Amino acid sequence: MFINGYGNIGRRLATALSMDKEVQFVGIAKYTVDDKVKEALENRFNVYVPEEVISAFKERGYSVTGSVKDAVKHSEIVIDAAKEGGGYDNKKSLYEPMNKPAIFQGGEDRHGDRAVADMIHNSRVNYSKAAGRTYVIQGSCNVSGMGRVMQPLIEKFGDRIRRYDVELVRRWADLEDSKAVKDSIEWDRNPHHQDDVKDFISNANLYVDAFKVPSRMMHLHQMFIRFSGKAPTKDEILECFRNEFGVAIISSAKGTGDVRKKAIELGFAHGDTNMVHIHQDILRVQDDTVKIAYSDDQTGMVIPENHMLFQSMVFKRPREEAMKRTDSLFQMSKKRRILEEEFK
Ligand SMILES: NC(=O)c1ccc[n+]([C@@H]2O[C@H](COP(=O)([O-])OP(=O)(O)OC[C@H]3O[C@@H](n4cnc5c(N)ncnc54)[C@H](OP(=O)(O)O)[C@@H]3O)[C@@H](O)[C@H]2O)c1
Repeated sequence: MFINGYGNIGRRLATALSMDKEVQFVGIAKYTVDDKVKEALENRFNVYVPEEVISAFKERGYSVTGSVKDAVKHSEIVIDAAKEGGGYDNKKSLYEPMNKPAIFQGGEDRHGDRAVADMIHNSRVNYSKAAGRTYVIQGSCNVSGMGRVMQPLIEKFGDRIRRYDVELVRRWADLEDSKAVKDSIEWDRNPHHQDDVKDFISNANLYVDAFKVPSRMMHLHQMFIRFSGKAPTKDEILECFRNEFGVAIISSAKGTGDVRKKAIELGFAHGDTNMVHIHQDILRVQDDTVKIAYSDDQTGMVIPENHMLFQSMVFKRPREEAMKRTDSLFQMSKKRRILEEEFK
């Protein structure tokens, strides 16, 4: 397996997948000569770069194993972790010509001229549909989080749910990003998340708005679920999530920063929890409406999801078995227990 890109997502994928004993890890791609090359080499990853810049990397004293093209050639599957939209160009110039299967990230298009795949994966909803496919998009952090919360509710309450309205409150930049955080609340005129979720929950009566706020600490989703008649009780709602993979139920956090800082303090890899955290202290039920607020670990959510997707595409493994392996690699059940204890 080759990871094409070494940004916020690529670095995390490399940490996890290089530790998976059933993966022969080819290495990572770097495109810019910067300190992250040093980090990758210190982590003992083979670094591949575009042919035309190999000499520039070498002049800076960095050891380069080969070209990106060589790495793709020697891989059986690529996880593309390019900046939004870059995956399409890679598909056209590398993966298609060399007949290589690839997983793309949530910033790529599902529809239109630059579509990279005809399916968005969410391990809670359509894991087995990815089995044996050549190209699949792993849904973004928000899309992964929404699927993880909606599907258990659908399974328990089905037709009783009339509609979902979600306000996505998104961080301005990741902790590792060098770009400044702008003091403004910005709206998204056309959030892609609504259509992306409908790709795997096609009949959901879902409306999504997205706002970017001056924070680097996770996302917060406020989901309003409207029922026909009276809504279920708070306990009935929470019961749906008690045994859900990648969902923690916590009470005493005051904000997203508390959760992120705790993950860093506890030494979780990259400061990620890899899950959503339902804030039960602000879960409200009134008349026909349930309001669930959960924080969504934007950088960490999609990493185990990529691992699940890889197992479906390559091994066609049953979901339960894949989940056990992903849990063991990411220690998600353990992290969940710790977080629930810390924030009880
Ligand atoms: N950040 C998140 O929280 C998050 C969450 C879920 C999904 N995603 C999705 O994941 C993808 C990557 O996001 P990111 O946050 O990791 O972006 P990022 O931090 O900006 O990293 C992008 C990486 O792409 C590399 N790159 C440049 N040209 C490339 C090419 N032709 N092929 C492959 N890689 C290339 C860059 O390498 P150099 O640094 O060497 O130039 C950089 O390491 C996007 O689709 C994004 O929507 C991001």
